[in-house]
Amino acid sequence: MAHITNFECSRCGEKFPPQPAPTVCPKDGGPLYVRYDLDEVRWNASRDSLIGGPKNMWRYAAVLPDAEPVTLGEGFTPMLPSRQRHYPNLLIKDEGMNPTGSFKARGMSAAITMLRHYGVKKLAAPSAGNAGGAMAAYAAAAGLEAYIFMPKDVPIANRLEVEAAGAHLTLVDGLISDCGRMVAERKEKEGWFDVSTLKEPFRVEGKKTMGYEVAEQMGWTLPDAILYPTGGGVGLIGMWKAFEEMEELGWIEGGKRPRMICVQAEGCAPIPKALDEGEAVSTMWPDAHTLAAGLRVPKAYGDFIILDIVRKSEGTAIAVSDDAIMDGVKRMASEEGIFPAPEGAAALAAYKRLLGAGFLTPDDRVVLFNTGSGYKYLDVFAQYWDVQALVGAPKLPAPRNMGGIIGPW
Ligand SMILES: Cc1ncc(COP(=O)(O)O)c(C=O)c1O
Ligand SMILES: [Zn+2]
Repeated sequence: MAHITNFECSRCGEKFPPQPAPTVCPKDGGPLYVRYDLDEVRWNASRDSLIGGPKNMWRYAAVLPDAEPVTLGEGFTPMLPSRQRHYPNLLIKDEGMNPTGSFKARGMSAAITMLRHYGVKKLAAPSAGNAGGAMAAYAAAAGLEAYIFMPKDVPIANRLEVEAAGAHLTLVDGLISDCGRMVAERKEKEGWFDVSTLKEPFRVEGKKTMGYEVAEQMGWTLPDAILYPTGGGVGLIGMWKAFEEMEELGWIEGGKRPRMICVQAEGCAPIPKALDEGEAVSTMWPDAHTLAAGLRVPKAYGDFIILDIVRKSEGTAIAVSDDAIMDGVKRMASEEGIFPAPEGAAALAAYKRLLGAGFLTPDDRVVLFNTGSGYKYLDVFAQYWDVQALVGAPKLPAPRNMGGIIGPW
């Protein structure tokens, strides 16, 4: 496992010595990057030393911090070539196969590993849904207490998984930004450690393993483009960090990074808007709405990093409609056999649009992230497709109220 040499601010570049349970830059609130002694890593590990490692994200332990992992077997998900003749170079990375059914498992595995290691006992986070579910599961596995704040209209699976794991759930009449404010206001008094997106550096470390995996699964090459459904942007930021580290380690060739394509929904598209307008940061998206709950982030804390990566990589940012997203769900399910989260389906809708626009060609090797499983969105799909009317099924029984917090809905 790698030795942390320092933490580095993504905004001002200031370096801070290793310290337990770091949060953000004390000077400007910038998210911190974990920096390792990569010379030592190069000396101790190689690409070949991964062979025979665990079939989960901890196979990349050589570039992850030194602590006993809290793991549920997350990562090393399938990379499936598209079965469509007209998509000969499309690969789908199916993150729906992760514990808790989404890629959020990776970030939470890494963050909760480190927080347990540092002796933190109580965690709190706002969530669009899946991060909360993952946090509840990993906190349960680690024996830590978790306080989770979610918008009250998240998919039902997210509420149920949090409750079932014994975490404390607060449903908020608002957006993830309102949930974030509540955590910020209460954390000091309650003694909570804030695990919000980019307010601590280790969720990025977990998500960066997607970048290592893409490279390993493509024979230590990188694709021409990556389509990534973006809310807070941790996966995009993490993968970019992985590419940087792998170049420095000599695991991949330098200077051949993929175009990073940020996919959002038309009802909440702060990154495409800021990119179009040539801005370095986004503005809070008013009245954010989309069926893809994970994309309903009106302003990402790390927006300036996302925009910088999209520009540096000569990628783009694109917003797709909810109808295109739901069409994408059916297409990915019927054409590929993958039942995707709406967020993953958004990436498929974006791929189709970018091919049509000529930004991508069928010759480009593209990795599309399906970030979650469709099984976590059954209520969303049933409502959109009016399933009961379609199949003439009897009305679903009213779910039982679990402890007075959930339902009726
Ligand atoms: C399924 C899914 N995809 C994508 C996202 C966006 O992820 P990120 O916040 O890392 O950009 C989320 C976030 O909740 C999600 O649940
Ligand atoms: Zn700073």
